[in-house]
Amino acid sequence: MSLGSCRSSKSRFWRKPSLRYEIVKSIEWLGNRLRFIDQTKLPLEEVCIETDQYTLLADAIRSLGIRGAPLIGVAAAYGVALAGLRTDESNLQSFRNEIEYAIGELASTRPTAVNLSWALERMRKNLNASLSIEAARVVLVREAIVIHEEDEEMCRRIGECGSQLIPDRATILTHCNAGALATGGEGTALNIITTAHRMGKSINVYVSETRPLLQGARLTTWELMKAGVDVTLIIDSAAASLMQQKKIDCVVVGADRIARNGDAANKVGTYMHAVTAHYHGIPFYVAAPSSSIDPPLEDGNNIPIEERNASEITEGFGKRIAPEGTNVYAPAFDSTPARLITAIVTEKGIHRPPFHFQ
Ligand code: MRU
Repeated sequence: MSLGSCRSSKSRFWRKPSLRYEIVKSIEWLGNRLRFIDQTKLPLEEVCIETDQYTLLADAIRSLGIRGAPLIGVAAAYGVALAGLRTDESNLQSFRNEIEYAIGELASTRPTAVNLSWALERMRKNLNASLSIEAARVVLVREAIVIHEEDEEMCRRIGECGSQLIPDRATILTHCNAGALATGGEGTALNIITTAHRMGKSINVYVSETRPLLQGARLTTWELMKAGVDVTLIIDSAAASLMQQKKIDCVVVGADRIARNGDAANKVGTYMHAVTAHYHGIPFYVAAPSSSIDPPLEDGNNIPIEERNASEITEGFGKRIAPEGTNVYAPAFDSTPARLITAIVTEKGIHRPPFHFQ
């Protein structure tokens, strides 16, 4: 695996001082409670929820009110901190048991994004190393904030490194949402695009709607329009003909879990875009922080793929579109083999195949 250095790209392009863009903050720690955007309401309503209960956070993760691999990890870490602040246990072992229960609840919310177990494991280590309840409360809050700050920094570096892959006047295809809404910072795949735009490159983005929960149509268009990037929405199955017409220069997507060999799980439909891009000789880039890499997993075959409730397909957003009793297969993710991936961008740089993550 070769790792491209993240050199400064100021030589040709620079941040245009005149460009105005709105930064989206998906999550915010308020000292003793958490504020987050309820993403199920976007783009029709911009609703923020404030809570001091980890159970409400767990429900929000399950229902995709909070979503995107890095953001799930950050939110779960804050959930553990909230559990520590709220419990009235006075015995250290009982306190630990209660927090361990909260960790289990949060871990069970979604299976595919490895960031969730990665963040919870960090919280568990801090819990077990604390010698008093008071110390544990302080340490858990501090660790959650550190995980959040690290995520912000990883996003910034991914944007900076990955933007070097984007040529001027590029037309890019992206799938699902890997922007600020999916992270504790300014995003991964989408941050590559918005960073290139802010550097002054002329960028057009095709966003595939991302059936069935429409993260592309609802969230990515919303973010890109706020960032002032030219965006065109397509249905997922229109991507192939755009590639055939040579209207796509590269594909940039996020990932929920990357195996040691570079196989990458992301929102269902990503594999379809990767196969089509490969057929048409179009570069296919994956962007993710190191917290999405799972080196013990040899390849993508063993990545757990979440299956969602059939109703999200048969009667999504409250409108029935298939007959009662229809058999449904509803995977939320798929795994793209490393051989279809041109490069993987992490906060450490641009990784080229053959990939071998440690
Ligand atoms: O089901 P979701 O909306 O949580 O799926 C999100 C994705 O597939 C993203 O592309 C991935 O988490 C990367 S986010 C930086």
